[in-house]
Amino acid sequence: MNIQSDVNIGLVGHVDHGKTTLTKALSGIWTDTHSEETKRGISIRLGYADIEFRKCPDCDEPMCYTTSKTCENCGSETELVRKVSFVDAPGHETLMATMLSGAAIMDGAVLVIAANEYCPQPQTKEHLMALDVIGVKDVIVVQNKIDIVSKERAIESYHEIKEFVKGTCAEDAPIIPVSAQQGANMDILIEAMLKRIQPPERSLDKTPLMHVARSFDINKPGSGAAKIKGGVIGGTLVQGTFKLGDTIEIRPGITNNNKRITLKSEIIGLEANGKDVEEIGPGGLIGVATKLDPSLTKADSLSGSVAGAVDTLPDVLDSFTMEAHLLDRVVGTKEERDVAPIKLKEPLMINCGTTTTIGVVTSTKKKNIEVALKLPVCASSGTRVALSRRVGARWRLIGYGIII
Ligand code: GTP
Repeated sequence: MNIQSDVNIGLVGHVDHGKTTLTKALSGIWTDTHSEETKRGISIRLGYADIEFRKCPDCDEPMCYTTSKTCENCGSETELVRKVSFVDAPGHETLMATMLSGAAIMDGAVLVIAANEYCPQPQTKEHLMALDVIGVKDVIVVQNKIDIVSKERAIESYHEIKEFVKGTCAEDAPIIPVSAQQGANMDILIEAMLKRIQPPERSLDKTPLMHVARSFDINKPGSGAAKIKGGVIGGTLVQGTFKLGDTIEIRPGITNNNKRITLKSEIIGLEANGKDVEEIGPGGLIGVATKLDPSLTKADSLSGSVAGAVDTLPDVLDSFTMEAHLLDRVVGTKEERDVAPIKLKEPLMINCGTTTTIGVVTSTKKKNIEVALKLPVCASSGTRVALSRRVGARWRLIGYGIII
């Protein structure tokens, strides 16, 4: 039995609408599956939890769906249907860059909307737009906090949501009323996630490519030299496989004294779903232990890089030209305004895979925009990047570009 997750599901939505509570309701616990260090690291920014979707052989749909090993309705032992990694994106407006890097590793998403507030709230809109821009198509809407609203408000909120999702990737998404706090309607939600969010097709025979979302120094302060463990990277493998003993390359790697250093190292540990494994394929969030000096991996210094077999990764780009597609309106603020065309010399925040960088516009020819990057990216032509512009004190999503 494969112990890796089959699919990464993102939890997105406005601050305080209940993403973390929903993850807890589904998993029972926040996450006990990873080593303490990894767990602590991951939950600081992109939270995540590995959860099993299970089915009771003796109960009818949707009551049969659960995350528990024993059926809450009849006590029968449940059967595993799918392993899922949840990526809990922060809902605060200042953390959009983190949300966007998270979206790069989501195969599908649950948009959490609290029924007790008018819909859409600014980040409800911004997060849905981000899913649209990044191309996350399988979306489910959760209407949360149903326990604290009247029947009339629940129906009103439903109509607000229906109106809001028109013309977006969530237009046909099911809207599932739940109380994350009371654990109500979790079975219906699990059924919807199983049926709507399909594991992507991932090729095992291609060369491996991992998006690095986090990187860590897992050593406790004061560890003796003999006990020091090598640097760890965390993220998702989108194609190919990694095996213990493989030599990997990490690009762009790190920059030291203006010199870029691409890193190479041997894989000495692989972790999926909290278990050590010898080989790993695409699916779910994984940890890769290397022989790298842990000072190179500490504090997410490698997040945004890609890892793979030596000499097989895309080129490292310090600049690129892209075909830009802009939204009509700037969302995410209370007052919305039109998106003005991109101007020469303007700085843009660019999210490419899990990388966040700034690109200064060096040429604009109709839709083709050239940018010089502050931090390089490792990407091939055809890659889709999210574009944000500084509006007031914050970066706001304004569209996407396709690297030419
Ligand atoms: P960020 O990660 O900061 O964006 O917030 P979040 O969306 O993860 O929200 P969180 O789960 O932290 O919930 C915010 C507050 O709403 C907490 O006080 C929860 O207890 C409460 N809450 C979440 N879900 C429900 C629910 O279904 N019913 C009620 N009554 N309260 C809820």
